[in-house]
Amino acid sequence: MKPIQVGLLGLGVVGGGTFTILNRNREEIARRAGREIKVTMAAVRESDLEAAVKKTGSGITLTTNPADVVGSPDVDIVAELMGGIHPARELVLQAIANGKHVVTANKALLALHGNEIFKAAHEKGVMVAFEAAVAGGIPIIKALREGLTANRIEWIAGIINGTSNFILTRMRDEGAGFADALKEAQALGYAESDPTFDIEGIDAAHKLTIMASIAFGIPMQFDRVYTEGISKLTAQDIAYAEEFGYRIKLLGITRRTPKGIELRVHPTLIPEKRLIANVDGVMNAVLVKADAAGQTLYYGAGAGAEPTGSSVIADLVDITRMATSDPGNRVPHLAFQPDQLRNDPILPVAEVETSYYLRMRALDRPGVLADITRILADLGISIEAMLQREPVAGEERVDVIMLTHRTIEKQIDQAIVKIEALDSIAGAITRIRLESLGTS
Ligand code: HSE
Repeated sequence: MKPIQVGLLGLGVVGGGTFTILNRNREEIARRAGREIKVTMAAVRESDLEAAVKKTGSGITLTTNPADVVGSPDVDIVAELMGGIHPARELVLQAIANGKHVVTANKALLALHGNEIFKAAHEKGVMVAFEAAVAGGIPIIKALREGLTANRIEWIAGIINGTSNFILTRMRDEGAGFADALKEAQALGYAESDPTFDIEGIDAAHKLTIMASIAFGIPMQFDRVYTEGISKLTAQDIAYAEEFGYRIKLLGITRRTPKGIELRVHPTLIPEKRLIANVDGVMNAVLVKADAAGQTLYYGAGAGAEPTGSSVIADLVDITRMATSDPGNRVPHLAFQPDQLRNDPILPVAEVETSYYLRMRALDRPGVLADITRILADLGISIEAMLQREPVAGEERVDVIMLTHRTIEKQIDQAIVKIEALDSIAGAITRIRLESLGTS
Protein backbone atom coordinates (compact mmCIF):
# COMPACT_ATOMS: atom_id res chain seq x y z
CA MET A 1 0.00 0.00 0.00
CA LYS A 2 1.17 3.53 -0.74
CA PRO A 3 2.85 5.19 2.29
CA ILE A 4 0.83 7.73 4.24
CA GLN A 5 2.46 11.09 3.69
CA VAL A 6 3.28 13.45 6.52
CA GLY A 7 4.16 17.11 6.38
CA LEU A 8 5.92 18.57 9.41
CA LEU A 9 5.41 22.15 10.50
CA GLY A 10 8.62 22.62 12.45
CA LEU A 11 11.74 20.51 12.60
CA GLY A 12 13.01 21.65 15.99
CA VAL A 13 13.23 19.51 19.12
CA VAL A 14 9.93 17.63 18.66
CA GLY A 15 9.93 17.61 14.84
CA GLY A 16 13.54 16.43 14.85
CA GLY A 17 12.78 13.68 17.38
CA THR A 18 9.79 12.56 15.33
CA PHE A 19 11.88 12.39 12.16
CA THR A 20 14.66 10.45 13.91
CA ILE A 21 12.33 7.83 15.38
CA LEU A 22 10.41 7.39 12.13
CA ASN A 23 13.69 6.68 10.35
CA ARG A 24 15.09 4.40 13.01
CA ASN A 25 11.93 2.34 13.57
CA ARG A 26 10.49 2.63 10.08
CA GLU A 27 9.93 -1.07 9.52
CA GLU A 28 8.47 -1.83 12.94
CA ILE A 29 6.14 1.18 12.78
CA ALA A 30 4.92 0.11 9.32
CA ARG A 31 4.23 -3.41 10.64
CA ARG A 32 2.04 -1.83 13.29
CA ALA A 33 0.37 0.83 11.17
CA GLY A 34 -0.30 -1.38 8.15
CA ARG A 35 1.56 0.93 5.78
CA GLU A 36 4.67 3.04 5.78
CA ILE A 37 4.55 6.48 7.39
CA LYS A 38 6.74 8.81 5.39
CA VAL A 39 7.69 12.42 5.98
CA THR A 40 7.47 14.02 2.56
CA MET A 41 7.74 17.71 3.49
CA ALA A 42 8.84 19.93 6.32
CA ALA A 43 8.54 23.65 6.91
CA VAL A 44 11.43 25.22 8.81
CA ARG A 45 12.63 28.70 9.67
CA GLU A 46 15.04 30.30 7.21
CA SER A 47 17.78 30.24 9.85
CA ASP A 48 17.29 26.47 10.39
CA LEU A 49 17.28 25.51 6.72
CA GLU A 50 20.91 24.43 6.51
CA ALA A 51 20.66 22.24 9.63
CA ALA A 52 17.40 20.79 8.29
CA VAL A 53 19.02 19.79 4.98
CA LYS A 54 21.76 18.04 6.92
CA LYS A 55 19.26 16.19 9.10
CA THR A 56 16.81 15.08 6.44
CA GLY A 57 19.05 14.44 3.42
CA SER A 58 17.51 14.61 -0.03
CA GLY A 59 14.39 12.52 0.49
CA ILE A 60 12.02 15.27 1.57
CA THR A 61 10.97 18.70 0.36
CA LEU A 62 11.99 21.52 2.67
CA THR A 63 10.31 24.89 2.60
CA THR A 64 10.37 28.04 4.66
CA ASN A 65 6.69 28.64 3.90
CA PRO A 66 4.43 26.48 6.12
CA ALA A 67 1.46 27.18 3.81
CA ASP A 68 3.26 25.01 1.21
CA VAL A 69 2.94 22.00 3.54
CA VAL A 70 -0.67 22.68 4.46
CA GLY A 71 -1.62 23.04 0.80
CA SER A 72 0.47 20.22 -0.67
CA PRO A 73 -1.27 17.32 -2.44
CA ASP A 74 1.66 15.17 -1.21
CA VAL A 75 0.63 15.53 2.42
CA ASP A 76 -2.12 13.45 4.08
CA ILE A 77 -1.32 14.39 7.69
CA VAL A 78 -0.01 17.75 8.86
CA ALA A 79 2.01 17.51 12.09
CA GLU A 80 2.01 20.95 13.72
CA LEU A 81 5.14 20.97 15.89
CA MET A 82 5.98 24.66 15.74
CA GLY A 83 4.23 25.83 18.93
CA GLY A 84 2.72 29.23 19.68
CA ILE A 85 -0.73 30.43 18.74
CA HIS A 86 -0.09 32.34 15.52
CA PRO A 87 0.33 31.22 12.82
CA ALA A 88 -0.24 27.71 14.25
CA ARG A 89 -4.00 28.26 14.62
CA GLU A 90 -4.45 29.53 11.07
CA LEU A 91 -2.30 26.75 9.62
CA VAL A 92 -4.15 24.01 11.51
CA LEU A 93 -7.53 25.42 10.43
CA GLN A 94 -6.30 25.66 6.84
CA ALA A 95 -5.00 22.09 6.94
CA ILE A 96 -8.43 20.93 8.15
CA ALA A 97 -10.18 22.98 5.48
CA ASN A 98 -7.92 21.28 2.93
CA GLY A 99 -9.12 17.89 4.19
CA LYS A 100 -5.89 16.92 5.95
CA HIS A 101 -5.66 15.14 9.27
CA VAL A 102 -3.70 17.00 11.92
CA VAL A 103 -1.36 15.94 14.71
CA THR A 104 -0.34 18.63 17.14
CA ALA A 105 1.89 18.88 20.20
CA ASN A 106 0.59 22.39 20.87
CA LYS A 107 -1.14 22.46 24.27
CA ALA A 108 -1.56 26.24 24.32
CA LEU A 109 -3.27 26.17 20.94
CA LEU A 110 -5.72 23.45 22.00
CA ALA A 111 -6.41 24.92 25.44
CA LEU A 112 -7.27 28.28 23.88
CA HIS A 113 -8.70 27.34 20.48
CA GLY A 114 -9.46 23.63 20.78
CA ASN A 115 -13.23 24.09 20.65
CA GLU A 116 -12.98 25.87 17.30
CA ILE A 117 -10.43 23.41 15.92
CA PHE A 118 -12.36 20.25 16.91
CA LYS A 119 -15.61 21.68 15.54
CA ALA A 120 -13.94 22.40 12.21
CA ALA A 121 -12.37 18.92 12.15
CA HIS A 122 -15.68 17.25 12.95
CA GLU A 123 -17.46 19.14 10.18
CA LYS A 124 -14.77 18.21 7.69
CA GLY A 125 -14.54 14.57 8.85
CA VAL A 126 -10.82 14.70 9.60
CA MET A 127 -8.91 13.73 12.74
CA VAL A 128 -6.98 16.02 15.08
CA ALA A 129 -4.75 14.05 17.43
CA PHE A 130 -2.83 15.53 20.34
CA GLU A 131 -1.13 12.90 22.52
CA ALA A 132 2.11 14.91 22.50
CA ALA A 133 0.38 18.00 23.90
CA VAL A 134 0.13 16.61 27.44
CA ALA A 135 2.98 15.11 29.45
CA GLY A 136 5.36 14.45 26.52
CA GLY A 137 6.04 10.73 26.24
CA ILE A 138 3.33 9.54 28.65
CA PRO A 139 0.33 8.14 26.73
CA ILE A 140 -2.11 9.87 29.07
CA ILE A 141 -4.55 10.99 26.38
CA LYS A 142 -4.90 7.42 25.15
CA ALA A 143 -5.37 6.20 28.72
CA LEU A 144 -8.05 8.75 29.58
CA ARG A 145 -9.88 8.59 26.28
CA GLU A 146 -9.73 4.87 25.58
CA GLY A 147 -8.16 2.79 28.34
CA LEU A 148 -10.49 4.20 30.99
CA THR A 149 -13.53 4.56 28.76
CA ALA A 150 -15.66 2.31 30.99
CA ASN A 151 -15.18 4.60 33.96
CA ARG A 152 -16.68 7.65 35.46
CA ILE A 153 -13.54 9.63 36.12
CA GLU A 154 -13.62 11.30 39.53
CA TRP A 155 -10.42 13.32 39.64
CA ILE A 156 -7.02 13.81 38.09
CA ALA A 157 -3.93 15.21 39.81
CA GLY A 158 -0.83 15.67 37.70
CA ILE A 159 2.74 16.86 37.85
CA ILE A 160 2.61 18.14 34.31
CA ASN A 161 5.39 20.70 34.13
CA GLY A 162 8.87 19.25 34.27
CA THR A 163 10.66 22.57 34.70
CA SER A 164 8.80 23.52 37.86
CA ASN A 165 9.18 19.99 39.21
CA PHE A 166 12.92 20.22 38.65
CA ILE A 167 13.04 23.55 40.52
CA LEU A 168 11.02 22.19 43.46
CA THR A 169 13.24 19.12 43.62
CA ARG A 170 16.39 21.27 43.81
CA MET A 171 14.81 23.45 46.47
CA ARG A 172 14.08 20.39 48.57
CA ASP A 173 17.27 18.40 47.95
CA GLU A 174 19.74 21.28 48.12
CA GLY A 175 17.78 23.84 50.13
CA ALA A 176 18.27 26.10 47.11
CA GLY A 177 16.28 29.31 46.78
CA PHE A 178 13.77 29.61 43.97
CA ALA A 179 15.91 32.03 41.92
CA ASP A 180 19.02 29.80 42.06
CA ALA A 181 17.05 26.66 41.18
CA LEU A 182 15.49 28.48 38.24
CA LYS A 183 18.94 29.58 37.01
CA GLU A 184 20.06 25.97 37.16
CA ALA A 185 17.00 24.84 35.17
CA GLN A 186 17.77 27.49 32.58
CA ALA A 187 21.45 26.50 32.38
CA LEU A 188 20.40 22.87 31.77
CA GLY A 189 18.05 24.00 29.01
CA TYR A 190 14.85 22.92 30.78
CA ALA A 191 13.24 26.31 31.32
CA GLU A 192 12.50 28.59 28.41
CA SER A 193 14.48 31.85 28.28
CA ASP A 194 11.20 33.45 29.38
CA PRO A 195 10.17 30.82 31.92
CA THR A 196 6.86 32.45 32.88
CA PHE A 197 4.68 29.72 31.36
CA ASP A 198 6.57 27.04 33.28
CA ILE A 199 6.92 28.67 36.71
CA GLU A 200 3.60 30.49 36.86
CA GLY A 201 1.59 27.36 36.16
CA ILE A 202 0.32 28.44 32.74
CA ASP A 203 1.82 25.50 30.84
CA ALA A 204 0.33 23.14 33.43
CA ALA A 205 -3.04 24.92 33.10
CA HIS A 206 -3.00 24.36 29.33
CA LYS A 207 -2.45 20.64 29.85
CA LEU A 208 -5.02 20.43 32.64
CA THR A 209 -7.61 22.09 30.39
CA ILE A 210 -7.13 19.35 27.82
CA MET A 211 -7.24 16.48 30.32
CA ALA A 212 -10.36 17.83 32.03
CA SER A 213 -12.12 18.11 28.69
CA ILE A 214 -11.58 14.48 27.77
CA ALA A 215 -12.09 13.19 31.30
CA PHE A 216 -15.47 14.86 31.83
CA GLY A 217 -16.77 15.57 28.33
CA ILE A 218 -16.69 19.35 28.73
CA PRO A 219 -15.45 22.02 26.31
CA MET A 220 -11.90 23.37 26.71
CA GLN A 221 -12.05 26.18 29.28
CA PHE A 222 -8.55 27.48 29.91
CA ASP A 223 -9.84 30.85 31.11
CA ARG A 224 -11.65 29.11 33.99
CA VAL A 225 -8.54 27.44 35.44
CA TYR A 226 -7.36 28.88 38.76
CA THR A 227 -3.62 29.21 38.19
CA GLU A 228 -0.91 29.85 40.77
CA GLY A 229 2.76 29.10 40.12
CA ILE A 230 5.78 28.30 42.27
CA SER A 231 7.67 31.59 42.12
CA LYS A 232 6.66 32.64 45.63
CA LEU A 233 7.52 29.34 47.32
CA THR A 234 10.43 29.34 49.75
CA ALA A 235 12.84 26.55 50.65
CA GLN A 236 11.68 27.15 54.22
CA ASP A 237 8.08 26.15 53.39
CA ILE A 238 9.35 23.07 51.61
CA ALA A 239 11.38 22.16 54.72
CA TYR A 240 8.44 22.78 57.09
CA ALA A 241 6.20 20.64 54.88
CA GLU A 242 8.79 17.85 55.20
CA GLU A 243 8.61 18.09 58.98
CA PHE A 244 4.91 17.28 58.75
CA GLY A 245 5.60 14.42 56.31
CA TYR A 246 4.61 16.20 53.09
CA ARG A 247 6.24 17.16 49.79
CA ILE A 248 5.27 20.25 47.82
CA LYS A 249 4.52 19.71 44.13
CA LEU A 250 2.97 21.92 41.48
CA LEU A 251 -0.19 19.97 40.73
CA GLY A 252 -2.83 20.37 38.07
CA ILE A 253 -6.05 19.15 39.69
CA THR A 254 -9.45 18.61 38.16
CA ARG A 255 -12.23 17.02 40.14
CA ARG A 256 -15.90 16.32 39.59
CA THR A 257 -17.96 17.49 42.58
CA PRO A 258 -21.71 17.77 43.04
CA LYS A 259 -21.36 21.58 42.81
CA GLY A 260 -19.24 21.64 39.66
CA ILE A 261 -15.89 20.75 38.19
CA GLU A 262 -12.72 21.96 39.86
CA LEU A 263 -9.96 23.22 37.58
CA ARG A 264 -6.88 24.39 39.44
CA VAL A 265 -3.11 24.54 39.25
CA HIS A 266 -1.16 25.44 42.37
CA PRO A 267 1.65 24.28 44.67
CA THR A 268 0.23 21.47 46.80
CA LEU A 269 1.37 19.60 49.88
CA ILE A 270 0.97 15.86 49.34
CA PRO A 271 1.80 13.06 51.78
CA GLU A 272 5.38 11.89 51.15
CA LYS A 273 4.28 8.25 51.09
CA ARG A 274 2.25 8.73 47.91
CA LEU A 275 4.06 7.49 44.81
CA ILE A 276 3.39 10.77 43.03
CA ALA A 277 5.10 12.70 45.86
CA ASN A 278 8.31 10.93 44.86
CA VAL A 279 8.27 11.99 41.22
CA ASP A 280 11.35 14.19 41.08
CA GLY A 281 13.44 16.22 38.69
CA VAL A 282 11.96 16.94 35.27
CA MET A 283 9.75 13.85 35.29
CA ASN A 284 5.97 14.07 34.95
CA ALA A 285 3.23 11.91 36.47
CA VAL A 286 -0.54 11.88 36.29
CA LEU A 287 -2.69 10.20 38.92
CA VAL A 288 -6.23 9.37 37.82
CA LYS A 289 -9.03 8.27 40.13
CA ALA A 290 -11.79 6.48 38.27
CA ASP A 291 -14.78 4.67 39.73
CA ALA A 292 -14.10 1.20 38.33
CA ALA A 293 -10.33 1.08 37.81
CA GLY A 294 -9.58 2.93 41.03
CA GLN A 295 -6.34 4.88 41.07
CA THR A 296 -3.94 4.54 38.14
CA LEU A 297 -0.64 6.41 37.88
CA TYR A 298 1.17 7.31 34.67
CA TYR A 299 4.83 8.30 34.95
CA GLY A 300 7.46 9.33 32.43
CA ALA A 301 9.32 12.04 30.59
CA GLY A 302 7.16 15.11 30.07
CA ALA A 303 9.31 16.67 27.40
CA GLY A 304 12.28 16.01 25.14
CA ALA A 305 12.80 15.15 21.49
CA GLU A 306 12.21 11.41 21.45
CA PRO A 307 9.65 11.06 24.28
CA THR A 308 7.47 13.72 22.65
CA GLY A 309 8.24 12.33 19.18
CA SER A 310 7.05 8.95 20.46
CA SER A 311 3.63 10.47 21.19
CA VAL A 312 3.49 12.27 17.84
CA ILE A 313 4.12 8.97 16.06
CA ALA A 314 1.51 7.15 18.14
CA ASP A 315 -0.97 9.66 16.73
CA LEU A 316 0.37 9.24 13.20
CA VAL A 317 -0.13 5.48 13.52
CA ASP A 318 -3.67 5.90 14.89
CA ILE A 319 -4.59 8.18 12.01
CA THR A 320 -2.98 5.86 9.48
CA ARG A 321 -5.09 2.97 10.76
CA MET A 322 -8.28 5.01 10.85
CA ALA A 323 -7.85 7.20 7.76
CA THR A 324 -10.12 5.12 5.57
CA SER A 325 -12.77 4.47 8.24
CA ASP A 326 -16.14 6.17 8.48
CA PRO A 327 -15.64 9.36 10.58
CA GLY A 328 -18.70 8.47 12.67
CA ASN A 329 -17.02 5.30 13.91
CA ARG A 330 -13.72 6.79 15.02
CA VAL A 331 -12.70 7.48 18.62
CA PRO A 332 -14.14 10.96 19.26
CA HIS A 333 -11.53 13.72 19.53
CA LEU A 334 -12.61 14.62 23.05
CA ALA A 335 -13.52 11.09 24.17
CA PHE A 336 -17.25 11.84 24.22
CA GLN A 337 -19.35 12.06 21.06
CA PRO A 338 -19.34 15.69 19.83
CA ASP A 339 -23.07 16.16 20.52
CA GLN A 340 -22.58 14.74 24.02
CA LEU A 341 -20.21 17.41 25.36
CA ARG A 342 -21.82 19.17 28.32
CA ASN A 343 -21.39 22.62 29.76
CA ASP A 344 -21.14 21.43 33.35
CA PRO A 345 -20.38 24.34 35.69
CA ILE A 346 -16.79 25.03 36.67
CA LEU A 347 -16.39 25.61 40.38
CA PRO A 348 -14.83 28.98 41.32
CA VAL A 349 -11.75 28.47 43.50
CA ALA A 350 -13.51 30.22 46.43
CA GLU A 351 -15.91 27.24 46.53
CA VAL A 352 -13.24 24.54 46.35
CA GLU A 353 -12.90 22.34 49.41
CA THR A 354 -9.40 21.31 50.42
CA SER A 355 -6.95 21.42 53.34
CA TYR A 356 -4.37 24.11 54.00
CA TYR A 357 -0.86 24.77 55.24
CA LEU A 358 -0.63 28.19 56.88
CA ARG A 359 2.63 29.83 57.96
CA MET A 360 2.68 33.05 59.96
CA ARG A 361 5.10 35.16 62.01
CA ALA A 362 3.61 35.58 65.46
CA LEU A 363 4.68 37.31 68.67
CA ASP A 364 5.75 34.74 71.25
CA ARG A 365 3.51 35.80 74.12
CA PRO A 366 0.48 34.45 76.00
CA GLY A 367 -2.85 34.53 74.20
CA VAL A 368 -1.54 34.84 70.64
CA LEU A 369 -2.28 31.24 69.69
CA ALA A 370 -5.67 31.49 71.40
CA ASP A 371 -6.53 34.51 69.20
CA ILE A 372 -5.57 32.62 66.06
CA THR A 373 -7.38 29.42 66.91
CA ARG A 374 -10.50 31.40 67.94
CA ILE A 375 -10.66 32.98 64.47
CA LEU A 376 -10.33 29.57 62.84
CA ALA A 377 -12.91 27.98 65.15
CA ASP A 378 -15.43 30.77 64.53
CA LEU A 379 -15.16 30.07 60.81
CA GLY A 380 -15.60 26.33 61.34
CA ILE A 381 -12.00 25.53 60.40
CA SER A 382 -10.48 22.64 62.26
CA ILE A 383 -6.72 22.40 62.90
CA GLU A 384 -5.10 19.06 62.11
CA ALA A 385 -1.51 19.77 63.19
CA MET A 386 0.56 22.66 64.47
CA LEU A 387 4.20 23.55 64.87
CA GLN A 388 5.70 26.51 66.68
CA ARG A 389 9.36 27.20 66.19
CA GLU A 390 11.56 28.18 69.12
CA PRO A 391 12.36 31.88 69.00
CA VAL A 392 15.70 32.73 67.42
CA ALA A 393 17.87 34.78 69.84
CA GLY A 394 17.17 38.48 69.43
CA GLU A 395 13.87 37.97 67.56
CA GLU A 396 10.54 38.48 69.27
CA ARG A 397 8.51 36.64 66.63
CA VAL A 398 8.37 32.97 65.83
CA ASP A 399 7.15 30.91 62.89
CA VAL A 400 3.82 29.22 63.54
CA ILE A 401 2.71 26.62 61.01
CA MET A 402 -0.71 25.03 60.97
CA LEU A 403 -2.29 22.32 58.86
CA THR A 404 -6.07 22.48 58.66
CA HIS A 405 -8.70 19.87 57.96
CA ARG A 406 -10.74 20.26 54.78
CA THR A 407 -12.65 23.49 54.51
CA ILE A 408 -14.06 25.75 51.82
CA GLU A 409 -11.51 28.16 50.35
CA LYS A 410 -13.59 31.25 51.06
CA GLN A 411 -13.52 30.38 54.77
CA ILE A 412 -9.73 30.30 54.73
CA ASP A 413 -9.67 33.59 52.79
CA GLN A 414 -11.67 35.21 55.58
CA ALA A 415 -9.55 33.63 58.31
CA ILE A 416 -6.34 34.88 56.69
CA VAL A 417 -7.66 38.45 56.52
CA LYS A 418 -8.65 38.34 60.19
CA ILE A 419 -5.44 36.73 61.43
CA GLU A 420 -3.28 39.14 59.42
CA ALA A 421 -5.14 42.01 61.12
CA LEU A 422 -4.00 40.86 64.60
CA ASP A 423 -1.30 43.10 66.14
CA SER A 424 0.58 39.98 67.14
CA ILE A 425 1.04 38.86 63.52
CA ALA A 426 3.67 40.39 61.25
CA GLY A 427 3.37 40.45 57.47
CA ALA A 428 1.39 38.18 55.20
CA ILE A 429 0.36 34.61 55.92
CA THR A 430 1.67 31.97 53.52
CA ARG A 431 -1.10 29.63 52.39
CA ILE A 432 -0.45 26.42 50.44
CA ARG A 433 -3.21 23.96 49.63
CA LEU A 434 -2.93 20.35 50.77
CA GLU A 435 -4.37 17.23 49.12
CA SER A 436 -4.20 13.77 50.63
CA LEU A 437 -4.77 12.06 47.24
CA GLY A 438 -6.12 9.05 49.07
CA THR A 439 -8.41 6.48 47.58
CA SER A 440 -11.63 8.46 48.09
N1 HSE B 1 7.98 23.36 29.37
C1 HSE B 1 7.37 22.09 29.52
C2 HSE B 1 7.82 21.46 30.84
C3 HSE B 1 7.75 21.21 28.37
O1 HSE B 1 8.72 21.99 31.51
O2 HSE B 1 7.28 20.45 31.22
C4 HSE B 1 6.68 20.39 27.77
O3 HSE B 1 5.42 20.93 27.73
